[in-house]
Amino acid sequence: MYDVHSVREDFPVLKDVTYLDSAATTQTPVPAVKAMEEFFYKYAGNHGRGAHRLARETTNRYEDARETIADFLNADADKTVFTRNATESINIVSRGFPWKAGDNVIVTLVEHHSNQLPWMRLKEMGVELKIVKPDITGIVDPQDIADAIDDRTRLVAANHISNVFGSIQDIERVIKFVHKEDVKILVDGSQSAGHMPTDLKSLDPDFFVTPGHKGLLGPQGTGILFMKDPDEIEPVFFGGGMVNSVTESGYVPEDSPTKFEAGTPNIPGSIGLGRAVEYVRDIGVLDIEKHEIALARDAAKRLDELDAVEVYGPQERSGVVPFNVVGMNSHDVAMILDQTKAICVRSGYHCAMPGINFLGVDGTVRASFALYNTEEEVDLLVDTVSKITSLVD
Ligand code: ALA
Repeated sequence: MYDVHSVREDFPVLKDVTYLDSAATTQTPVPAVKAMEEFFYKYAGNHGRGAHRLARETTNRYEDARETIADFLNADADKTVFTRNATESINIVSRGFPWKAGDNVIVTLVEHHSNQLPWMRLKEMGVELKIVKPDITGIVDPQDIADAIDDRTRLVAANHISNVFGSIQDIERVIKFVHKEDVKILVDGSQSAGHMPTDLKSLDPDFFVTPGHKGLLGPQGTGILFMKDPDEIEPVFFGGGMVNSVTESGYVPEDSPTKFEAGTPNIPGSIGLGRAVEYVRDIGVLDIEKHEIALARDAAKRLDELDAVEVYGPQERSGVVPFNVVGMNSHDVAMILDQTKAICVRSGYHCAMPGINFLGVDGTVRASFALYNTEEEVDLLVDTVSKITSLVD
């Protein structure tokens, strides 16, 4: 097991705050920030667009980062596309998929808006959205997904871990059931990649998306889209860099992944993400998972023991702990946690209104854990929430 106190030295801001909002964005470790600094100070050029030394160095480092990330996810690098975030990754699939009017897509009720809206808007093209409900802890029964599939279903889009409940879905079974019906599946790994092992060869989804700035510890504005069969998807963005040849009457795009990366990409971000993934890999994702889960389950249990606190989600949760102080608005609780003890948590709808409405509340406070959190931080959270409960009549 790694030493959490020495890991914390790589995240300087943790000296100032108790950071419990890693489901929104994690902090980025010093080696990844240095890798980006090195890009700007030592070799900044454009990617794939020049013969000079800086362009060559940039291209090599960018492609090395892709190899590192693909290797970490056990995916082929030529099927691993750099994007700006998971939202963009999902939009590329929803817009580029060969739909026909009358098709339908299935999502679960506990998806982030980024895994609902891109499918919802397909209504304009005559593609219907079907929604599968979870149980009250946010767990979706794979059989319910299988039962929702009909002969017009083309794709299922489901998260691996819910950002609202912290529920870990049985995604292996979901994928098997969906494939048995000859339907494609997109897995939203936003809350799982880097928090638990992700082996895309063994999971075998058709599409897998994750932002770079959560469990992978990379900078904001980076994301990944894996596609098992990239030829099936029409690119969404056209322009420089994605094309092999152009004449006055047409163009021939490059192969994947280049054809999905039109325009100058976020080169420093992707290089920083590659270095951050090495950092996660070197610490060990199994140990990270064990550490985060232990903290989150302890926090959930202890918060639940407080009289005026309601905790949501399953006991066997990931590192996400949603709760409410009965009688208080979630934003007020978050504000008090910050102002009294510099504890940073998220509050409100967490970009997932249908999931929060399903809980029958108008928001939750959400503490979410990462590899750098400690048991002392759990103590501080529970203690401070306990004091807040005494403010309620
Ligand atoms: N998806 C992020 C969250 O759940 C922003 O907070």
